[in-house]
Amino acid sequence: MSAATLPPPPAGTWTSAPTTAIRRPRPASASGPAVLVGRDLHRSFGATTALAGVTLAIGRGEAVAAMGPSGSGKSTLLHCLAGIEPPDRGEVWLGPDRIDHLDERRRTAVRRRRFGFVFQSGHLLPELPAVENVALPLMLEGHPRRRAVAEARRWFAPLGIDGLEHRLPGELSGGQAQRVTIARALVTTPAVVFADEPTAALDRTTGREVVALLVQAARTSGAGLLVVTHDPEVAEACDRSVLLRDGALAAPAAPTPAGRR
Ligand SMILES: Nc1ncnc2c1ncn2[C@@H]1O[C@H](COP(=O)(O)OP(=O)(O)OP(=O)(O)O)[C@@H](O)[C@H]1O
Ligand SMILES: [Mg+2]
Repeated sequence: MSAATLPPPPAGTWTSAPTTAIRRPRPASASGPAVLVGRDLHRSFGATTALAGVTLAIGRGEAVAAMGPSGSGKSTLLHCLAGIEPPDRGEVWLGPDRIDHLDERRRTAVRRRRFGFVFQSGHLLPELPAVENVALPLMLEGHPRRRAVAEARRWFAPLGIDGLEHRLPGELSGGQAQRVTIARALVTTPAVVFADEPTAALDRTTGREVVALLVQAARTSGAGLLVVTHDPEVAEACDRSVLLRDGALAAPAAPTPAGRR
Protein backbone atom coordinates (compact mmCIF):
# COMPACT_ATOMS: atom_id res chain seq x y z
CA MET A 1 0.00 0.00 0.00
CA SER A 2 1.50 3.31 -1.01
CA ALA A 3 1.13 6.50 0.97
CA ALA A 4 -1.36 7.65 -1.64
CA THR A 5 -3.67 4.77 -0.80
CA LEU A 6 -3.83 5.16 2.95
CA PRO A 7 -7.20 4.07 4.29
CA PRO A 8 -9.97 6.63 4.65
CA PRO A 9 -10.52 8.06 8.10
CA PRO A 10 -12.94 6.25 10.35
CA ALA A 11 -16.43 7.62 9.88
CA GLY A 12 -18.09 9.63 12.61
CA THR A 13 -17.62 9.33 16.32
CA TRP A 14 -18.56 6.06 17.90
CA THR A 15 -20.14 5.97 21.28
CA SER A 16 -18.76 3.78 24.00
CA ALA A 17 -22.26 2.53 24.74
CA PRO A 18 -22.69 -0.75 26.59
CA THR A 19 -22.49 -3.81 24.42
CA THR A 20 -26.24 -4.33 24.55
CA ALA A 21 -26.73 -1.06 22.68
CA ILE A 22 -24.93 -2.29 19.58
CA ARG A 23 -26.28 -5.83 19.55
CA ARG A 24 -28.58 -6.45 16.66
CA PRO A 25 -29.77 -9.44 14.73
CA ARG A 26 -27.95 -9.99 11.49
CA PRO A 27 -28.99 -12.46 8.85
CA ALA A 28 -26.34 -15.11 8.21
CA SER A 29 -25.73 -13.67 4.76
CA ALA A 30 -25.06 -10.14 6.05
CA SER A 31 -21.35 -10.80 6.29
CA GLY A 32 -21.04 -11.79 2.66
CA PRO A 33 -18.32 -14.16 1.57
CA ALA A 34 -15.86 -15.32 4.21
CA VAL A 35 -12.72 -13.25 4.50
CA LEU A 36 -10.92 -15.93 6.52
CA VAL A 37 -11.49 -19.67 6.57
CA GLY A 38 -9.78 -22.26 8.75
CA ARG A 39 -10.47 -25.78 7.54
CA ASP A 40 -10.00 -28.93 9.63
CA LEU A 41 -7.24 -27.40 11.73
CA HIS A 42 -5.16 -29.75 13.87
CA ARG A 43 -2.40 -28.79 16.29
CA SER A 44 -0.63 -30.82 18.95
CA PHE A 45 2.07 -30.02 21.48
CA GLY A 46 3.76 -33.31 22.32
CA ALA A 47 1.05 -35.55 23.69
CA THR A 48 -1.39 -32.63 24.08
CA THR A 49 -3.93 -32.17 21.34
CA ALA A 50 -4.76 -28.46 21.29
CA LEU A 51 -6.85 -28.50 18.08
CA ALA A 52 -8.57 -31.64 16.84
CA GLY A 53 -10.09 -30.57 13.54
CA VAL A 54 -11.66 -27.13 13.75
CA THR A 55 -13.37 -25.51 10.79
CA LEU A 56 -14.35 -21.86 11.11
CA ALA A 57 -15.19 -19.10 8.63
CA ILE A 58 -15.31 -15.39 9.42
CA GLY A 59 -17.15 -12.98 7.16
CA ARG A 60 -16.27 -9.44 6.18
CA GLY A 61 -17.39 -7.12 8.96
CA GLU A 62 -18.44 -10.10 11.07
CA ALA A 63 -17.52 -10.42 14.74
CA VAL A 64 -17.11 -13.99 16.00
CA ALA A 65 -16.49 -14.85 19.65
CA ALA A 66 -14.60 -18.03 20.55
CA MET A 67 -15.42 -19.27 24.02
CA GLY A 68 -14.62 -22.40 25.98
CA PRO A 69 -12.87 -23.61 29.11
CA SER A 70 -9.23 -22.88 29.84
CA GLY A 71 -7.04 -25.16 27.74
CA SER A 72 -9.77 -25.87 25.17
CA GLY A 73 -7.65 -24.52 22.31
CA LYS A 74 -8.98 -20.97 21.84
CA SER A 75 -5.61 -19.24 21.69
CA THR A 76 -4.14 -22.02 19.58
CA LEU A 77 -6.99 -21.58 17.10
CA LEU A 78 -6.35 -17.84 16.98
CA HIS A 79 -2.63 -18.41 16.48
CA CYS A 80 -3.20 -20.85 13.63
CA LEU A 81 -5.76 -18.62 11.89
CA ALA A 82 -3.53 -15.56 12.29
CA GLY A 83 -0.39 -17.24 10.98
CA ILE A 84 1.40 -16.92 14.31
CA GLU A 85 2.03 -20.64 14.25
CA PRO A 86 1.23 -23.09 11.48
CA PRO A 87 -1.29 -25.88 12.08
CA ASP A 88 0.00 -29.46 11.87
CA ARG A 89 -2.80 -30.23 9.47
CA GLY A 90 -5.60 -28.29 7.81
CA GLU A 91 -5.73 -25.12 5.76
CA VAL A 92 -6.13 -21.39 6.36
CA TRP A 93 -7.44 -19.21 3.55
CA LEU A 94 -7.40 -15.43 3.51
CA GLY A 95 -9.82 -14.62 0.71
CA PRO A 96 -8.49 -16.49 -2.31
CA ASP A 97 -5.02 -17.01 -0.79
CA ARG A 98 -3.90 -20.02 1.22
CA ILE A 99 -1.64 -18.73 4.00
CA ASP A 100 -0.94 -21.61 6.37
CA HIS A 101 1.88 -23.13 4.32
CA LEU A 102 3.76 -19.88 3.70
CA ASP A 103 7.26 -19.60 5.11
CA GLU A 104 7.80 -17.50 8.23
CA ARG A 105 8.85 -14.41 6.29
CA ARG A 106 5.70 -14.41 4.16
CA ARG A 107 3.46 -15.21 7.14
CA THR A 108 4.97 -12.22 8.95
CA ALA A 109 4.18 -10.03 5.96
CA VAL A 110 0.57 -11.26 5.94
CA ARG A 111 0.26 -10.60 9.67
CA ARG A 112 1.60 -7.09 9.27
CA ARG A 113 -0.34 -6.09 6.21
CA ARG A 114 -3.64 -7.92 6.50
CA PHE A 115 -4.19 -8.58 10.22
CA GLY A 116 -4.57 -6.50 13.36
CA PHE A 117 -4.05 -7.75 16.91
CA VAL A 118 -5.46 -6.82 20.30
CA PHE A 119 -4.11 -8.80 23.23
CA GLN A 120 -4.98 -8.78 26.91
CA SER A 121 -2.20 -6.46 27.97
CA GLY A 122 -2.01 -4.36 24.86
CA HIS A 123 1.70 -4.76 24.20
CA LEU A 124 2.18 -1.04 23.63
CA LEU A 125 5.77 0.11 23.46
CA PRO A 126 6.29 1.94 26.75
CA GLU A 127 8.77 4.51 25.45
CA LEU A 128 6.56 5.71 22.58
CA PRO A 129 3.67 8.16 22.96
CA ALA A 130 0.24 6.72 22.21
CA VAL A 131 0.00 8.27 18.75
CA GLU A 132 3.36 6.81 17.71
CA ASN A 133 2.31 3.39 18.97
CA VAL A 134 -0.71 3.63 16.69
CA ALA A 135 1.42 4.92 13.80
CA LEU A 136 3.99 2.16 14.14
CA PRO A 137 2.33 -0.44 11.86
CA LEU A 138 2.16 2.15 9.08
CA MET A 139 5.79 3.13 9.57
CA LEU A 140 6.79 -0.54 9.48
CA GLU A 141 5.00 -0.67 6.13
CA GLY A 142 7.24 2.14 4.90
CA HIS A 143 4.93 5.13 5.24
CA PRO A 144 6.72 8.37 6.11
CA ARG A 145 6.56 9.15 9.81
CA ARG A 146 4.63 12.39 9.45
CA ARG A 147 1.99 10.81 7.27
CA ALA A 148 1.69 7.76 9.56
CA VAL A 149 1.30 9.93 12.67
CA ALA A 150 -1.32 12.08 10.94
CA GLU A 151 -3.26 8.98 9.99
CA ALA A 152 -2.90 7.53 13.51
CA ARG A 153 -4.20 10.75 15.03
CA ARG A 154 -7.48 10.41 13.16
CA TRP A 155 -8.39 7.29 15.13
CA PHE A 156 -8.27 8.94 18.56
CA ALA A 157 -11.56 10.86 18.51
CA PRO A 158 -13.70 7.98 17.21
CA LEU A 159 -12.29 5.76 19.93
CA GLY A 160 -12.92 8.37 22.62
CA ILE A 161 -9.26 8.99 23.44
CA ASP A 162 -8.63 12.36 21.80
CA GLY A 163 -6.31 14.48 23.87
CA LEU A 164 -4.27 11.44 24.92
CA GLU A 165 -2.12 11.29 21.78
CA HIS A 166 1.07 12.32 23.52
CA ARG A 167 0.72 10.30 26.70
CA LEU A 168 3.08 7.40 27.25
CA PRO A 169 1.38 4.03 27.75
CA GLY A 170 2.32 4.15 31.43
CA GLU A 171 0.26 7.34 31.75
CA LEU A 172 -2.93 5.73 30.43
CA SER A 173 -5.63 3.77 32.25
CA GLY A 174 -6.14 0.15 31.25
CA GLY A 175 -9.23 1.03 29.23
CA GLN A 176 -7.50 3.93 27.51
CA ALA A 177 -4.52 1.74 26.68
CA GLN A 178 -6.81 -0.88 25.14
CA ARG A 179 -8.44 1.80 22.99
CA VAL A 180 -4.98 2.80 21.77
CA THR A 181 -4.35 -0.87 21.01
CA ILE A 182 -7.59 -1.04 19.02
CA ALA A 183 -6.52 2.03 17.03
CA ARG A 184 -3.16 0.38 16.35
CA ALA A 185 -4.89 -2.83 15.25
CA LEU A 186 -7.15 -0.98 12.82
CA VAL A 187 -4.89 1.76 11.45
CA THR A 188 -3.76 -0.42 8.54
CA THR A 189 -7.40 -1.32 7.69
CA PRO A 190 -6.70 -5.02 8.12
CA ALA A 191 -8.84 -7.77 6.63
CA VAL A 192 -9.14 -9.48 10.02
CA VAL A 193 -8.63 -8.35 13.61
CA PHE A 194 -7.70 -10.96 16.22
CA ALA A 195 -8.32 -10.27 19.89
CA ASP A 196 -7.28 -12.71 22.64
CA GLU A 197 -9.10 -11.89 25.87
CA PRO A 198 -9.03 -8.14 25.14
CA THR A 199 -11.04 -7.26 28.24
CA ALA A 200 -9.48 -9.67 30.73
CA ALA A 201 -7.43 -6.96 32.44
CA LEU A 202 -10.29 -4.44 32.60
CA ASP A 203 -13.17 -3.95 35.01
CA ARG A 204 -16.57 -5.03 33.77
CA THR A 205 -17.89 -1.65 32.67
CA THR A 206 -14.67 -0.65 30.94
CA GLY A 207 -14.48 -4.07 29.32
CA ARG A 208 -17.97 -3.66 27.89
CA GLU A 209 -17.13 -0.22 26.51
CA VAL A 210 -13.89 -1.41 24.99
CA VAL A 211 -15.39 -4.45 23.32
CA ALA A 212 -18.30 -2.38 21.97
CA LEU A 213 -15.77 -0.04 20.38
CA LEU A 214 -13.72 -2.94 19.05
CA VAL A 215 -16.73 -4.61 17.42
CA GLN A 216 -18.01 -1.35 15.99
CA ALA A 217 -14.63 -0.21 14.74
CA ALA A 218 -13.98 -3.54 13.03
CA ARG A 219 -17.46 -3.53 11.50
CA THR A 220 -17.11 0.04 10.26
CA SER A 221 -13.81 -0.70 8.60
CA GLY A 222 -15.15 -3.94 7.11
CA ALA A 223 -12.72 -6.19 8.97
CA GLY A 224 -13.61 -9.64 10.20
CA LEU A 225 -13.09 -9.99 13.95
CA LEU A 226 -12.25 -13.02 16.07
CA VAL A 227 -12.49 -12.41 19.81
CA VAL A 228 -11.31 -15.09 22.23
CA THR A 229 -13.04 -14.54 25.53
CA HIS A 230 -14.28 -16.09 28.76
CA ASP A 231 -16.82 -13.30 29.20
CA PRO A 232 -20.40 -13.97 28.01
CA GLU A 233 -21.00 -10.21 27.76
CA VAL A 234 -18.16 -9.91 25.28
CA ALA A 235 -19.62 -12.77 23.27
CA GLU A 236 -23.01 -11.04 23.36
CA ALA A 237 -21.49 -8.03 21.61
CA CYS A 238 -20.40 -10.23 18.69
CA ASP A 239 -22.53 -11.43 15.81
CA ARG A 240 -22.15 -15.07 16.80
CA SER A 241 -20.08 -17.26 19.03
CA VAL A 242 -18.49 -20.67 18.82
CA LEU A 243 -17.68 -22.93 21.74
CA LEU A 244 -14.50 -24.95 21.90
CA ARG A 245 -14.13 -28.08 24.03
CA ASP A 246 -11.03 -30.24 23.98
CA GLY A 247 -9.83 -28.69 20.75
CA ALA A 248 -13.07 -29.17 18.84
CA LEU A 249 -16.10 -26.99 18.15
CA ALA A 250 -18.74 -28.08 20.62
CA ALA A 251 -21.46 -25.83 19.30
CA PRO A 252 -22.30 -25.00 15.70
CA ALA A 253 -21.46 -21.51 14.54
CA ALA A 254 -25.01 -20.26 14.84
CA PRO A 255 -25.92 -16.61 14.33
CA THR A 256 -26.98 -14.84 17.49
CA PRO A 257 -30.75 -14.62 17.08
CA ALA A 258 -31.82 -11.21 18.30
CA GLY A 259 -29.24 -11.37 21.05
CA ARG A 260 -30.48 -14.64 22.54
CA ARG A 261 -28.46 -17.80 22.74
N1 LIG B 1 3.37 -23.73 23.27
C1 LIG B 1 2.76 -24.75 23.88
N2 LIG B 1 3.46 -25.81 24.35
C2 LIG B 1 2.84 -26.85 24.92
N3 LIG B 1 1.52 -26.94 25.10
C3 LIG B 1 0.76 -25.91 24.68
C4 LIG B 1 1.33 -24.76 24.05
N4 LIG B 1 0.34 -23.90 23.74
C5 LIG B 1 -0.80 -24.48 24.14
N5 LIG B 1 -0.55 -25.69 24.71
C6 LIG B 1 -1.55 -26.60 25.25
O1 LIG B 1 -2.58 -26.72 24.30
C7 LIG B 1 -3.86 -26.72 24.93
C8 LIG B 1 -4.68 -25.56 24.43
O2 LIG B 1 -4.06 -24.34 24.85
P1 LIG B 1 -4.66 -22.91 24.51
O3 LIG B 1 -3.67 -21.93 24.99
O4 LIG B 1 -5.04 -22.88 23.09
O5 LIG B 1 -5.97 -22.88 25.43
P2 LIG B 1 -6.99 -21.70 25.72
O6 LIG B 1 -8.34 -22.22 25.37
O7 LIG B 1 -6.54 -20.47 25.05
O8 LIG B 1 -6.87 -21.56 27.29
P3 LIG B 1 -7.00 -20.23 28.23
O9 LIG B 1 -8.45 -19.92 28.29
O10 LIG B 1 -6.44 -20.70 29.54
O11 LIG B 1 -6.17 -19.16 27.60
C9 LIG B 1 -3.58 -26.66 26.43
O12 LIG B 1 -3.59 -27.98 26.96
C10 LIG B 1 -2.19 -26.06 26.51
O13 LIG B 1 -1.51 -26.49 27.66
MG1 LIG C 1 -5.84 -18.61 25.72
